[in-house]
Amino acid sequence: MYSVFITRSLPDPIVEKIEQVAKVSMWEEEEVPVPQERLEKELEQADGILCLLTETIEEKLLLGADRLKIISNMAVGYNNIDVAAASKKGIMVTNTPGVLTETTADLTFALLMATARRIVESSTYLKNGKWQTWSPFQLTGQDVYGTTLGIIGMGRIGEAVARRAVGFGMNILYNNRSRNMEAEKQLGVIYTDFETLLRQSDFVCVLTPYTPETRNLIDREQLSWMKKTATLINTSRGGVVNEDALYEALVGHKIWAAGLDVFEEEPVPLNHPLLSLPQVVALPHIGSASIQTRMRMAELAAANLIDGLQGKKPKHLVNPAPSNIE
Ligand code: DGY
Repeated sequence: MYSVFITRSLPDPIVEKIEQVAKVSMWEEEEVPVPQERLEKELEQADGILCLLTETIEEKLLLGADRLKIISNMAVGYNNIDVAAASKKGIMVTNTPGVLTETTADLTFALLMATARRIVESSTYLKNGKWQTWSPFQLTGQDVYGTTLGIIGMGRIGEAVARRAVGFGMNILYNNRSRNMEAEKQLGVIYTDFETLLRQSDFVCVLTPYTPETRNLIDREQLSWMKKTATLINTSRGGVVNEDALYEALVGHKIWAAGLDVFEEEPVPLNHPLLSLPQVVALPHIGSASIQTRMRMAELAAANLIDGLQGKKPKHLVNPAPSNIE
């Protein structure tokens, strides 16, 4: 029987499924990540692990992982794993694309609406007893209907956000590594260069994967191209946006607002300057956090893991399959 380590408490049906083929050891906590030492120890004896984006799996952690066949990440992003180091050891790495697309697009759009119409700020205003009267320009925000949305990264989630934006009568620009002709045809999205997108958009959604090439993709210069009335939404990874530059742009009123579901350091420290700004809506990385979607992600991560253990090519392999895999 195989040995599997699950790095966070998952629902019984998921664990039972894996137990049909493997002996399972699990970090039972829900709110505390597994300590690195425990992870390192488990990796020495595991044939497979099911992990989360909170686990940083670097080359040195894999040194003793001589039995490990598969790292199944319960996320679509896998920047937490050194894929090259895993590949060198013949370890498969998998992710969970597709099943979280619509849920993450919903949250992206929720952030867009919340920042445009100052939803969180307005609710806090009311709850803090500040609402004295209705007033013509009290808590006024920006229109969403009929404005221009710029999507950076026109993959599955980008397309799903664009579908929502069509319903709001938005003009949609996008930038991507390559043109998405299908999205252009189906959704009427328009490909533009990066600078034009930033200069013309009223809302910019960052949906590109986090790679060495996209680190600080949105930096001081890029923020300076944006309209004063524009909003930046990031539901990808914190490192794609330079947070110091974003803070400066917001404080200097160079852009209107920001909606952030992700941060360079997570959990974001409470004294982070961005959290002090009323025009920032900050969320604790909940893009895919619906009950149904998290179940689907766990099921898919389990299916990938089981395939890999059994020597089958998992459906969502992100690195080349080792030569002994069908
Ligand atoms: C992912 O799957 O990469 C998301 O960030 C998790 O919500």
